Amino acid sequence: MAPSAIYNGPVNEDGVVLEAISDAVDEVNMLKAQTAFAQQPQFDSGKNKTAFRQYEAACDRVRAFYVEQHARQTVAYNVAARQRFHSAGRARAEMTVWQAIEKLDALVDDSDPDTQLSQMQHLLQSAEAIRRDGKPRWMQLVGLIHDLGKLMLFLGGADGQWDVVGDTFPVGCAFAGRAIIYPDTFAANPDASHPVYGSAHGIYSPGCGIANLVMSWGHDEYLYLVVRDQARLPREALAMIRYHSFYPWHREGAYREFMADGDEDLLQAVRAFNPYDLYSKSDGIPSVEELKPYYLELIDEFFPQQVIKW
Ligand SMILES: [Fe+2]
Ligand SMILES: [Fe+2]
Repeated sequence: MAPSAIYNGPVNEDGVVLEAISDAVDEVNMLKAQTAFAQQPQFDSGKNKTAFRQYEAACDRVRAFYVEQHARQTVAYNVAARQRFHSAGRARAEMTVWQAIEKLDALVDDSDPDTQLSQMQHLLQSAEAIRRDGKPRWMQLVGLIHDLGKLMLFLGGADGQWDVVGDTFPVGCAFAGRAIIYPDTFAANPDASHPVYGSAHGIYSPGCGIANLVMSWGHDEYLYLVVRDQARLPREALAMIRYHSFYPWHREGAYREFMADGDEDLLQAVRAFNPYDLYSKSDGIPSVEELKPYYLELIDEFFPQQVIKW
């Protein structure tokens, strides 16, 4: 696995680049948050959303990250990434969901000054905020697992951070201009000037359904492919997992022309989940030992076979 060209942070013993950009991406998304969500959650009503950290340093790092991501997320790369994922020769790690949470947590460098919370704490905070607001158990489970696709950094499913974290968008049609962060950086993507991939609808047709868009490769799509066939989750839960980083759609309103019957419900579900991802990060540090029994039972409810192929 080649380290990302733009990343100069800590590298662990295995030579694996540790994730550091993901929090900065989230910070920039918080900065951009101006939308009144359709279904206002209660857990964050007392928080001053403008009081989160200063973002300028984050914005510099995030721009450098997107320069690489936007140049390299092509149709050809996405076809190859999916073939790699589905290849019969790929040795798939097998572990329970809780083991996956612990593995992700152990592999993230908590000495990074820009990482306030470990991955496990972020997942527990998201789940706890959803639980406190009285949302359904399947949605609590989504909060608990939504970032486990980042394990691909360590399981051989990724080339660097650029194809693991960051906002997502479809490939195979024109990039959606200002609805995507740093739109000028797509000039370096060969698909932008491709006669088909660079055209308005590209390889798709209007109304084809959001599920038929080939999304840029990252932790959302990876986890979606893992849980789609191995969990008992409603379609809204799968949409929350698959599209939680698809800000151009769920926040900016782009790509609506591809929506089909039923997609509006999924969009509302993804929007309902987003605040629990972004704003629960300022909550107190959850006690893993206290919460573990509750969440082990929750995991068993939706993953009855317990051991998952990653
Ligand atoms: Fe995520
Ligand atoms: Fe997250």
